[in-house]
Amino acid sequence: MYLIYRENDSELLQAHAHVWNQIYNFINSMSLKCAVQLGIPDIISKHGKPMTLDELVTALPIHPTKSQYIYRLMRILLHSGVFSLQIIGQEEAYVLTKASQLLVEDNPLTLKPFLLAALNPALTTPWCHLSTWFQNDDPTPFATVHGMTLWDFAGHEPKFNGFFNEAMASDARLVASVVLHKCKDVFKGLNTLVDVGGGTGTMAKAIAKEFPQTECTVFDLKHVVADLKGDGNLKYVGGDMFEAIPPADALLLKWVLHDWNDEECVKILKKCKEAITSNGKVGKVIIIDMMRENKKGDDESIETQLFFDMLMMVLLNGKERDEKEWAKLFQEAGFSDYKINPILGLRSLIEIYP
Ligand SMILES: C[S@@+](CC[C@H](N)C(=O)[O-])C[C@H]1O[C@@H](n2cnc3c(N)ncnc32)[C@H](O)[C@@H]1O
Repeated sequence: MYLIYRENDSELLQAHAHVWNQIYNFINSMSLKCAVQLGIPDIISKHGKPMTLDELVTALPIHPTKSQYIYRLMRILLHSGVFSLQIIGQEEAYVLTKASQLLVEDNPLTLKPFLLAALNPALTTPWCHLSTWFQNDDPTPFATVHGMTLWDFAGHEPKFNGFFNEAMASDARLVASVVLHKCKDVFKGLNTLVDVGGGTGTMAKAIAKEFPQTECTVFDLKHVVADLKGDGNLKYVGGDMFEAIPPADALLLKWVLHDWNDEECVKILKKCKEAITSNGKVGKVIIIDMMRENKKGDDESIETQLFFDMLMMVLLNGKERDEKEWAKLFQEAGFSDYKINPILGLRSLIEIYP
C-alpha cells in the first residue's frame, strides 16, 4: 500500500524529503573536498583570528567571477559542523571547529591526505558500479572498474601508490599519538616487533622512537617499501604476509584485517602465530581495527562504522566485524585469548595471545 496525499497529512512529504536527503548525501563530502582543495581550512588557520567572508574571498585562489558563490559553499559546511561562525563587532566571521582543525595541512595530525585520497575518483568511481557488481562475479566493485585488486593497482600506478600510502601515514600519525599516550604498556618489554602491512612505517617509527630497545620491522608489499631505508632500531622488509612473516615477539596489524574476508584473515593470523618467537609470555598479536557495534539508531558513529563496512566491501572484499565475529577468527586461527582496549574512538586495540 502506498502513501497518498491527504489534507494535513505530512507523512508523504516527510518521506519525500527523506529520500531527497539520502539522494544528495554526497554533497556533504564533495563540498568538504572542494573546501580542502581550495585550502580553506589552511587559510582560516593562517589568518589567526576569525575570518570574514570578504577576507576569505580575497585570500582564496579563485576566479573573480566565482567570489559570489563562496558564502554558499561555507553555508553548507557551517551546517555540517566543519566550520562555525563568530560575531566580531557587527560582522560574522568564520572559525575552525575541531573537525576542520584536523584538515589543516600544518597540523601534525592532519587528515588532509586521507580526505584527498578517500575522495579521489579512483576510489569513488567503484561506487557507481555497485549494482553491476552485485550482478557479476567480480570480487569487488573496485575490480569491476580497474580490472585488478587495489593492491595490484597500487603496484602499477606509482601516483596512486604515493597518495594512498600518504593517506595511511596520516591516519597512523594520529593513531600512534593516541596509542602511545593511552596504552604504551602494550609495547613494553618487547625485544622485537613486526608491523605487518605497516605501510611506509609511520606507526613503527613512533614505536621504535618510544622504545629504543625494541627492534622494529615494517613488513609490507615490495612496491610499498622498495625505496625506504631503515634507521637505528627500525628496518623495512618487503614480502607477502600470506607466504611468510618475519619472526618477532609481537606482530602488529593496524588497519589490515578489515581489508580481508574471514578466510584470508584466518590465514594472516595463522602466519602471525607462526611468526611469534617463543620468548616467554610476551608473545602476542596486536590488532588495531574497528569493533563494530550492533546498536540501532542514528548515532553518527554507528553510521560511520557502517560506511566503513560498505567501503571495505566495495574496495577490498573486507568487512568491519563485531566482537563475536572477531572472536571466531581468533579461535579459528588457534589463539586462546584476547583483550579489547576501546581506546581509539571508532577503533579498538585488541591483543590476542597464542
Ligand atoms: C589499509 S593499509 C594499512 C597500512 C598501515 N598498517 C596503516 O594503518 O597505516 C593495508 C596495508 O597492507 C599492505 N598489504 C596488502 N597486501 C599485503 C600482503 N599480501 N603482504 C603484506 N602487506 C600487504 C598494503 O600494502 C597496505 O600498506
